[in-house]
Amino acid sequence: MSASPTYPVPEGFAEQAHIDAAAYEALYQRSIAEPEAFWAEQADAFLTWDTRWDKVREFDFHKGSARWFAGGKLNVAYNCIDRHLARRGDQVAIIWEGDEPTDDRSITYRELHDAVCRLANVLRERGVKKGDRVCIYMPMIPEAAYAMLACARIGAVHSVVFGGFSPEALKDRILDCDCQVLITADEGVRGGKTIPLKHNADRALAACPDLHTCVVVKRTGGAVEWQEGRDVWYGEAVAAAAADCAPESMDAEDPLFILYTSGSTGKPKGVLHTTGGYLLQTAMTHKYVFDYHDGDIYWCTADVGWVTGHSYIVYGPLANGAITLMFEGVPTYPTASRCWDVVDKHGVQIFYTAPTAIRALMGAGDEPVTGTSRQSLKLLGTVGEPINPEAWEWYYRVVGDSRCPIVDTWWQTETGGHMLTPLPGATALKPGSATLPFFGVEPVLLDADGAEIEGPGSGNLAIKASWPSQIRTVYGDHQRLVDTYFSAFPGYYFTGDGARRDEDGYYWITGRVDDVLNVSGHRMGTAEVESALVLHEKVAEAAVVGYPHDIKGQGIYCYVTLMSGETPSDELKQELVGMCVREIGPIAKPDIIQWAPGLPKTRSGKIMRRILRKVAANELENLGDTSTLADPSVVDQLIDSRANR
Ligand code: WT7
Repeated sequence: MSASPTYPVPEGFAEQAHIDAAAYEALYQRSIAEPEAFWAEQADAFLTWDTRWDKVREFDFHKGSARWFAGGKLNVAYNCIDRHLARRGDQVAIIWEGDEPTDDRSITYRELHDAVCRLANVLRERGVKKGDRVCIYMPMIPEAAYAMLACARIGAVHSVVFGGFSPEALKDRILDCDCQVLITADEGVRGGKTIPLKHNADRALAACPDLHTCVVVKRTGGAVEWQEGRDVWYGEAVAAAAADCAPESMDAEDPLFILYTSGSTGKPKGVLHTTGGYLLQTAMTHKYVFDYHDGDIYWCTADVGWVTGHSYIVYGPLANGAITLMFEGVPTYPTASRCWDVVDKHGVQIFYTAPTAIRALMGAGDEPVTGTSRQSLKLLGTVGEPINPEAWEWYYRVVGDSRCPIVDTWWQTETGGHMLTPLPGATALKPGSATLPFFGVEPVLLDADGAEIEGPGSGNLAIKASWPSQIRTVYGDHQRLVDTYFSAFPGYYFTGDGARRDEDGYYWITGRVDDVLNVSGHRMGTAEVESALVLHEKVAEAAVVGYPHDIKGQGIYCYVTLMSGETPSDELKQELVGMCVREIGPIAKPDIIQWAPGLPKTRSGKIMRRILRKVAANELENLGDTSTLADPSVVDQLIDSRANR
């Protein structure tokens, strides 16, 4: 193994940073040796509590249970808004940058308070109570953040559904957690195109009889259908509502939100996060990982439909009284310079994005970057998938002018906040490594038998003890939580990722070891795509795997076996692509469909995906042991039928 280059903490960075190498070492040791005392101090430092907790931490990984700050009471919206008003009422909370470069606005903490209170009152008037679920299906506009915070203010549990999901996917999510209210917009705008959100919502709601209120933000003014009684214009409703709304005092373990994410089997799971621990970890990581200082302008390019948007556009930054930039558009519209134009326009210090965006921008060459100043930048971040060293180097050298540290943050919807990450004033960087654990995180590598691997080595990445923003349950199905995360390796939380630990103790994520795809940082179960494909009457069977893709990280490769007598055609391919888009959304669009006369199965009927992955990746030399296949000749047929793709 060749030694990878190491980038030390830039000169002068440690001196001004919240955490330097010595502080990291000391605090990390303390967080592991005395977790209760450590986390109590942090909970006091970062959050404002109505009532102090009784017990800092209790967990049992055999039952998948975790409780943090039990008995403590607080309100998330109060912590993200009200407590900042005295000092920061007139400071900007959210900078909104619209899809068109001429379209932007700024919202101060006082304006945020006003907007959130009004919407909270609208929800209360429509009967929403503490514990009720509210679905949010929104474009990237400030009202999306208002909606989340309005729910938090009254103790309602939000379930944000990414605006790129189809009506079918929206319907499933509304029904799964029984949302009675939906907050949406007439249309979204991204990259110069409109997305018919209200129209999609109408189609979803046709199958959701219990949903009684649909609040609609006017984003474009495009034509929409209207159901009297159910549909309410956001603008009219908030104008009529009071601008003050007392926050509900919530137990630290009361649910804050549900967010659906894909696993290797079945339908997406409703990952449930609670109040105190989640807010603590997101606030703390936001401050230390991004080395956030008062007044810094911080931009995370994620969508609020994903956990990154929850934790690092809305909750973490606002809990810290930060200035958070929210971008409606896409990195390449109207030009490949857009991100850097926005950085220059608003004077952004901290920029956090996904490897897929970096690779796409890298593909457009250096010129769109070097034509901009970017002098304001001091830190870069990446999240969502392993970053290849070439993309890391480009990001570092071209975007950051070899000045800005890059924090490669490994975490998951289920972990709520960063888990493995550099701290920029403390950690020397190695391109492609998420480096070291955050405070309180105890990663381990397990071999196939579940034994811990010591020192350098590779294995299944698991976590040994609870952390504050840990998933608490799968909504409505706690057994599924236990089965998915706490059964493969009893006593540990299993991440689903493989990783390597090097001689310096640095972690290198090698990707999912289960049947979960990561396409442009979007997580998807192969089973979900397969279910969509087999809905077509001409399809007998389908198997989906990921394959290496230059920009997306992974592409979607589908093997499809047709019913006997059916003939493959390009038209049929298009229909199948359409099925996936309709059932899941445009993110699930297959890249390659291969007509397969048969699929490689064991005698017990299990599909051998290992072989399918190798064929998809054109790695035909070592297909491994095929002797357990019911019909080994299927493999040759598969290789031959690659022409049919
Ligand atoms: C999966 C979680 C965490 C927010 C965005 C994705 C992969 C995430 C990294 C990283 C290597 C990464 C893992 C993980 N992943 N960040 N820095 N390096 N891989 O959240 O949709 O829940 O996906 O994304 O495979 O398990 P998610």
